[in-house]
Formats: sequence, structure tokens, C-alpha cells
Amino acid sequence: MTTRRLALAASVLAICTVLTRATNPGFVARITVKGLDYARQEGIAALQKELAKLKLPDFSGTFKVKLLGKVHYTFYSLNLRSFQLPSSQIAPIPNVGLKVSIANAFAQLRGKWRVKKRFIRDSGSFDLKVEGLSISIGLKLGSDASGRPTVTTSECGTHISNVRVHISGRFGWLYNLFHKKIESSFRRTMEGKVCGAVTSSVTTKLQPYLQTVPVTAKIDKVAGIDYSLVAPPAATAQSLDLNLKGEFFSLAHRSAVPFPPPALAFPVDHDRMVYCGASSYFFNTAGFVYHTAGALLFEITDAMIPKEFKFHLNTSTFSAFIPQLEKMYPDKLMKLRIKTSSAPFLTITPGNLSLTPVVDIQAYVILPNSSLVPVFLLSVTSSVSAKIMVTSARIGGTLELGRLQLSLKHSDVGPFSVQLLQALMNFYGSSILIPRINARLKEGFPLPLPARIQLSNLVIQPHQNFLLFGADVRYV
Ligand SMILES: *[C@@H]1O[C@H](CO)[C@@H](O)[C@H](O)[C@H]1NC(C)=O
Ligand SMILES: *[C@@H]1O[C@H](CO)[C@@H](O)[C@H](O)[C@H]1NC(C)=O
Ligand SMILES: *[C@@H]1O[C@H](CO)[C@@H](O)[C@H](O)[C@H]1NC(C)=O
Repeated sequence: MTTRRLALAASVLAICTVLTRATNPGFVARITVKGLDYARQEGIAALQKELAKLKLPDFSGTFKVKLLGKVHYTFYSLNLRSFQLPSSQIAPIPNVGLKVSIANAFAQLRGKWRVKKRFIRDSGSFDLKVEGLSISIGLKLGSDASGRPTVTTSECGTHISNVRVHISGRFGWLYNLFHKKIESSFRRTMEGKVCGAVTSSVTTKLQPYLQTVPVTAKIDKVAGIDYSLVAPPAATAQSLDLNLKGEFFSLAHRSAVPFPPPALAFPVDHDRMVYCGASSYFFNTAGFVYHTAGALLFEITDAMIPKEFKFHLNTSTFSAFIPQLEKMYPDKLMKLRIKTSSAPFLTITPGNLSLTPVVDIQAYVILPNSSLVPVFLLSVTSSVSAKIMVTSARIGGTLELGRLQLSLKHSDVGPFSVQLLQALMNFYGSSILIPRINARLKEGFPLPLPARIQLSNLVIQPHQNFLLFGADVRYV
């Protein structure tokens, strides 16, 4: 019994561990109240345009007039002249979604009327003012099967506090007797139409817009980034949090990442509209994918070394350190092939980003017929400090090489002291290799931003296991 319970407890624990692992994001995007408010302004401006296009149906009915009896009326050609949403608010509702409240909205319409009663026929125009219109909208956020964000209208309510019709024409006085009935009829029609327009704007405008977030961003021939949601967007009292997978993957052959994403302790900041956390997992899956694909391979040839530099890549340069090399291959150019021997691993701590890559450097002598003769193989490690930069839509970085530590793995030219090569290899590393790597890293990788969004006003801070950056956004 006890054993079974233990086994059960152990398996529950195992499942929980798997589940928590699976849900730790590699990339987090937090939209603060300030960011939601910016979204509200843009959203309300768009909704106002949609509401101004509202089509209101003709409506007709009858009313009784003393002496005349039943009169049949029709209101038609209803035309919205303006629809204004001057005041609105947005609030995240924890575990529910977003609530948008619009108050004191107003609209003006113009239309035509006609009346029929045996011998009476008349027509004219009318003006209608809708005032004190309030709209309350609930938005529920979710994610679809591909991990894209979704949004639906979970509730919509409208209330109109005042409708005023002014009717002109010969029989205008008749209508003005019955304005209450006409006004309440308008109010009901209008209330129904507004929520219809809201729901349709959410479905046809907002949802497709949210879906422009690139769930998979292709980067180059080797890799893409998976930015799918690992859970539906979560509203807290202060923010809307999107937890994304944030994982690089091989385009040719996606395989499981052999390390889990760590939990991220996100700070509470609200100066900027959005805060993003790029986990060390995000960067390390990049290292893993490019290393596994054999893409972390660099060559240094003499042609890459500027003329004025004194250390040309040839056997006479190396003769100072490996005298036998020049004897065996006099006056020959050389080539260095540098390859990571394990995936580079970025460590992020508060205030510090560093990695300690281990690379193999294979040196070749180039024969006159261009064939390569391997001469020695070094294993090299170094502490490298990293700087991450975020631009309006991309994340990139630069590396700075520390002192190299060399060890000889294999020599085809007999023994020599690798320590003597230290300065030369440092020179090739920091003057030739790193600038080339940095040129690529500076181009950066795309961020998971929806269409037409640019970041500005950036702040960047390394935290334990992740890089936090805050920004304001602009919809352009
Ligand atoms: C080899 O490099 C040295 C400088 O390091 C240079 O003076 C010499 O001309 C080079 N030789 C060849 C064959 O390129
Ligand atoms: C940053 O990390 C590297 C490697 O772990 C370490 O050598 C260095 O002292 C750290 N620097 C700071 C400022 O913490
Ligand atoms: C290049 O020259 C070397 C020595 O002269 C020879 O051993 C090798 O087979 C040649 N390679 C090619 C591809 O011709």
C-alpha cells in the first residue's frame, strides 16, 4: 500500500515537473497598463471609424391619433453623420481578459420620414441625437492550435441615456407628440447595432491583427524561432502576459532541446508599455541549433588579414613558434578552420552576460595545387562577454573575447609549445574572427511583434537567467 502510494506520489510529481517544464517560456512579453492604454487609444480610434459606418434599418409602425385613427409611418434613409467616442478605459481583469468601457459617446443621424393615412400623405426629414451612450466590452484572449493569440468578445452591453429626435415637415407636430415611442424604438435598434459592430470589429479587425504576430520567424537557411504561445495570454491586475515558447529550431530537422527553460522571476515594472524577457533558454537554443547544424564553423584565410597587419597567415609567421613547420612547408599560406566542439552556452546573471565557448582550431598548410594539409589541432576556450542590443524590431548583440586558453589536441608536425601561440591566436580571434561574428550578430533576430509595431525608448537589464528589456511601442 505504502509503496503504491509512493509510486503514485512519484508519478504525480514527475507529471507536475514535466508540466511546469513544458510551460516555462523562453520568451515573455508583458503589456503593462500603460501599453494597454496605448492599445485602447488605437483600438477606440478604429472602432469609432467602424461605428461611423453603421447602417441603420428603416423602421415603420403605426400610432393612433385622436380623430384621425391609425397613422402609418416609416423612417428611412437613416444616415450617421458622426459617431464620437470621447472617453474610454481599459482594464485587465485577472484570469478573465480585458474590459473596455466607453462612456458619454454620442452620435448624430439624419433621415427621412413619410406618413400615410388614406387622404394624408406627407414626408420630411428628421435629425436625431444619441447621447450618453455607454458601451461595455469584455475581451477574452486565448490561443489557437498553432499558438497564435486569439481574441473574442465575451460580452458586450450598451446603454443609451438619451435619444432626441427633431422632426421637420408639415406633420412634424404629429411625430413630436409620439417622440417617446419613436425614440425608444431608435434606442433599441441602436443598442443592438452597436454591439453587432463591436463584435464584428473584434472578429474581422482585431483578431486578424493579433494573428500577425509571427509564430515562427524564419531567420536563415539553418534556423527559425518558435514564438508560439505556451499558454493563453494571462491577465493580472497590472498587465497582460504572453508566455511564448521562445525557442530556436532547425529548419532541416527539428529535435528536442536537451535542456529545460528555467523559471523567470519577472520584476514588476510599469514605466514602459511593454517588457520582454528573453530567457537564457532562448539564446541557448540558438547556440544548440547552429552548433548541431554545423553552422558554427568559421575559416580564417590570409586574404581576410589586412595588408598592414604583421601576422600574415603563412608558415614563415608560424616559424617563430613552430620552427619545423617552415622547414617542411617553406613559404606556404595557411588556413585556420574554427568549429565549436560543443554548443556555446550563454549565462545571464544580474548585470552580466557571458559565455565560455570551447572551439577546435584546425590549422592547414595550403599546397600550390590548393589542397590542404592538416598540421595541428588546438582546443581553445575563452571567456567571452556578450552585449545584447534591441532595436525597433530586432534583438542582436556583440561579443568581446577574453584571454584564450589553448591546448594541443593533435600535431602532424611534431611537438611544440602552444603557449607561444597564445598572442597570435588572440590576435586572429579578436581582430579577425570576432568582428565577423559581430557583424552577423548585429543584424539580429526578429522579435515577436505584430504588424506595424515599432519599439522605442528601450531599457535593457540582465536578470538571473534572462534579459529584460522594456520599451514603448508605436503603431506606425
Ligand atoms: C608571410 O607573412 C609575413 C608577415 O607575417 C610576410 O612578411 C611574408 O611576405 C608572408 N609570406 C607569404 C608567402 O605570404
Ligand atoms: C561575469 O561573468 C564572468 C563569467 O562567469 C565572470 O568572469 C565575471 O567576473 C562576471 N562579471 C561580473 C561583473 O559579474
Ligand atoms: C596536390 O599536391 C600534393 C603534393 O604535391 C599531392 O600529394 C596531392 O595529391 C595533390 N592533390 C591534388 C588534388 O592534386
